[in-house]
Amino acid sequence: MRYYVLTLFPDMIQEAMRHSILGRAQEDGKIKLETVNIRDFSHNKQMHVDDAPYGGGAGMVMQAPPVYEAWESVVSRIGHKVPVVFMTPAGKVFNQQKAKELSVYPELIFLCGHYEGIDQRVIDEIVTEEISIGDYVLTGGELPALVVMDAVSRMVPGVLGNETSAIDESFSGMYLEYPQYTRPPEFHGQAVPEVLLSGHHENIRKWRLEQSMRITEAKRPELLKPELMSKEELKLYRKLQQEKEEANKKEANKKEL
Ligand code: ADE
Repeated sequence: MRYYVLTLFPDMIQEAMRHSILGRAQEDGKIKLETVNIRDFSHNKQMHVDDAPYGGGAGMVMQAPPVYEAWESVVSRIGHKVPVVFMTPAGKVFNQQKAKELSVYPELIFLCGHYEGIDQRVIDEIVTEEISIGDYVLTGGELPALVVMDAVSRMVPGVLGNETSAIDESFSGMYLEYPQYTRPPEFHGQAVPEVLLSGHHENIRKWRLEQSMRITEAKRPELLKPELMSKEELKLYRKLQQEKEEANKKEANKKEL
């Protein structure tokens, strides 16, 4: 995977991508990162790349020509079109499914905006996809681009090292992680669940699946999609639903008394 990030703050991107798994993935050549400083394409001595908005209003708008030329400097080198992801709160909200979809491309260009936005004409011309990382407004697209690159990179084969890790944590659906434990075996009077010490891989797998489903049901029930579940998951899901119904009935009875 090759990332090209068009930004006014290349150091912010390079620095954040230098660490841990993403740093190692770059050393191993699984991921390549190139930042393009939009300011290098300024058309004036002061190196400005923004101007006041037509029609008035607060703030400054990033000008179309430097953004376009930064993009062109990448595509003219690559020689073919690459998806251009514009980070904006107006985009479609990012999720794991989108991370998986993006991870299939060999190259991605990220466009990070600043100030009050980017001239609409260059957005219309080069952007193929608009992505938001959530319903809040940040000062720029750099942190959102980093969030997306992080999530996409861990779906790229070889990046996590252990090939099963990315798949393992979500089973067939998008479940929340089961609880993890490591040494010491007892902490503040709390023991590690017995099954994890048993060495019985199949029982451990089943226990983890059940925990994942229970945690998802308790914290994010909207993530449970029975239509996507395997037979085993569906059986567990029905058990959880039944338990919930019984708990609700008990609660209702208590109130009547
Ligand atoms: N730029 C500013 N806020 C953003 C957000 N929430 N998502 C993506 N890009 C943004």
